Amino acid sequence: MANFALIGGSGLDQLSLLEGKVIEKIDTPYGKEPVEICRGVIDGLNIVFLSRHGTTEKKPPHMINYRANIWALSQFEPKAVIALASVGAVLPEDDIGAIAVPDQIIDYTWGRETSYNTGKEKFINFIDFTYPFDMDLREAIVDASEELDLPIIDGGTYACTQGPRLETAAEVDRIDNDGGHYVGMTLMPESCLARELNLKYAAICQIVNTAAGRGASEKGIVLDDTKEALTKATKESVNLALATF
Ligand code: HPA
Repeated sequence: MANFALIGGSGLDQLSLLEGKVIEKIDTPYGKEPVEICRGVIDGLNIVFLSRHGTTEKKPPHMINYRANIWALSQFEPKAVIALASVGAVLPEDDIGAIAVPDQIIDYTWGRETSYNTGKEKFINFIDFTYPFDMDLREAIVDASEELDLPIIDGGTYACTQGPRLETAAEVDRIDNDGGHYVGMTLMPESCLARELNLKYAAICQIVNTAAGRGASEKGIVLDDTKEALTKATKESVNLALATF
């Protein structure tokens, strides 16, 4: 039976809904530490769950071994990969606790391993990344949200910053000028590595704060204050991902 993969972000490090849970430690060619994958069944679907930041030790966004994570997931040949990621909203009209399904990315990260190309291959894998998320999977998420009667924001550009510090107000102004709508720290290089391995990958974002210098975050951001919104939006996002599969 087909597998479906879910990647949990800071709001989701385990999936309590999983029945017949099996934890597997997957060795990868990308480092000594194995990747922990939790498999099980939800509503008759085979779900492969990855906690992006890890389960015991929590890796900050700039230290995540994205290559190992995505390679480990690919071993299960998932039909679709849906990644959850919390974000700050650049636009004041986007509500805290809302869910967004972005359709574009701008990458502001640096120093991360962004490819499986090592330079030793006989070819260079120039993947097409015009549309960074799988269009059919994104459409399926939007359709599922309509079926669930769950309001979402359809589209928008995810700006991936380096972290783990949050942005300055000037950086958010720059992101706004560049056309960014949501600020997060993890979908790059995760999404392009998934594309290199031909995985169908899309993201569901949880808006947990207004971005630095904007709206309620004008005076500063205390991420601890965002927990309630994160819990609510994460629960809804998991339901949405499952309804999509
Ligand atoms: N910036 C970057 N990443 C985030 C934010 C933010 O404001 N909120 C949640 N993840």
